[in-house]
Amino acid sequence: MNICVVGTGYVGLVAGTCLSDFGMNVICVDKDKTKIDMLNAGQVPIYEIGLSEIIQRNVKLERLHFSTDLNEAVNRSLVIFVGVGTPEEEDGSANLSYIFEVAKTVAETMNDYKVIVIKSTVPVGTAKKIRQLIKENLKRDVEFDVVSNPEFLREGSAVNDFLRPDRIVIGSDSERALAIVRDIYRPLYLLETPIISTTNETAEMIKYASNTMLALKISYINEIATICDAVNADVYDVAVAVGMDKRIGPKFLHPGPGFGGSCFPKDVKSLVKIAENAGYDFKIGRTVIEVNEQQKERVVEKSRALLGSFKDKVICLLGLSFKPNTDDIREAPALYIAQKMLEEDATIQAFDPVAMDETKKELPEIVYCKDSLTACTGADLVIITTEWHEFRDLDFEQIKQKVKTPNIYDTRNIYDSQQIKALGFTYICTGRP
Ligand SMILES: NC(=O)c1ccc[n+]([C@@H]2O[C@H](COP(=O)([O-])OP(=O)(O)OC[C@H]3O[C@@H](n4cnc5c(N)ncnc54)[C@H](O)[C@@H]3O)[C@@H](O)[C@H]2O)c1
Repeated sequence: MNICVVGTGYVGLVAGTCLSDFGMNVICVDKDKTKIDMLNAGQVPIYEIGLSEIIQRNVKLERLHFSTDLNEAVNRSLVIFVGVGTPEEEDGSANLSYIFEVAKTVAETMNDYKVIVIKSTVPVGTAKKIRQLIKENLKRDVEFDVVSNPEFLREGSAVNDFLRPDRIVIGSDSERALAIVRDIYRPLYLLETPIISTTNETAEMIKYASNTMLALKISYINEIATICDAVNADVYDVAVAVGMDKRIGPKFLHPGPGFGGSCFPKDVKSLVKIAENAGYDFKIGRTVIEVNEQQKERVVEKSRALLGSFKDKVICLLGLSFKPNTDDIREAPALYIAQKMLEEDATIQAFDPVAMDETKKELPEIVYCKDSLTACTGADLVIITTEWHEFRDLDFEQIKQKVKTPNIYDTRNIYDSQQIKALGFTYICTGRP
């Protein structure tokens, strides 16, 4: 089957690559020529474990192609997956201009029956709007269907998540289109992946309801951690015991500096907006966001309380990406923390295994270091902001020789406080005595 995937970001590139690995003929299209040139030169514009090898394999087999020419890709394909960005607008709603732009071009180009599959996260009702937009812009009398197929992959394990999803959701009112999309995912039947076939609106809602639930769990445990801080209880033991209840489960009960990334913050805000437009005040959604803002600020406050003030202090940040195994810094708590401290005249020294080039574009004022030990040199406070593997076994004896003052803020609760304190550090963390 010939497939076109529009958008070569974290979702589009992974989806296109994995679909070609299923044996399909895939053209990945992006309007960003730099990305396409990189991909055609054998380079991968994003950091995602395992992706490069699968791209190389399928390019060699001539099943995977990269292009900026959407018209040609549409003409050659039966199915057009759309995975372009839907970033947040100032009022919290999703910006649909990229997806509408694609829909308009697809409409003007279509020469035959096409299935347009929306992979981007879009507000409920968007598939319907896209159907209307395509209808209005058709140049020929051709049939088409719009399928909503939200993506649930996680950055950092995107390839594995795409190939082994918990479920696949496909929404459409066309049996013909549902059958075609089900056929695309046929290789996953072997893994007994459940496929939920539903309406466009329900599929769109499932994505927002899932992300908000996950964000809710994080904000919930972050608030429990704040209470633990105040009453001398240990959130680690609390989370383990609470998570043993099968109705709750242990995942996403890890307190930290707040959630970030390109999805949770914008998707929760978008659902608040969707509800508002439907005449409902989504209180839980608003609170999830508020608690998350508070959580990032708490890291700044606790650091300030430890140091007195940030003026002329050197603060080392270990980790810049919003989570390990990705170079994505969108809404990363580390950037919020760095920004706030820079505003109060701190010097920020940072190290991240892969996210420094991206962060440099946003915060050139940070001193970027070649490794953790260099970043710790002369520091008044070392903050572990992202739980990269290499920060889980730091050499604290060496760090103690390098820092100005032995202060550690382990926002992700990686270490045992007694052990670090025994080495002569002042140690603070999130919700543990
Ligand atoms: N990143 C994730 O972990 C994740 C997970 C699930 C769902 N999503 C959703 O998937 C969508 C894409 O997210 P992402 O992180 O991959 O975005 P991204 O910003 O990494 O990539 C989007 C790509 O689309 C391209 N693009 C924009 N307009 C275009 C056009 N008119 N024609 C061709 N290409 C165009 C951009 O150049 C960019 O390369 C969003 O709606 C997001 O909410 C993301």
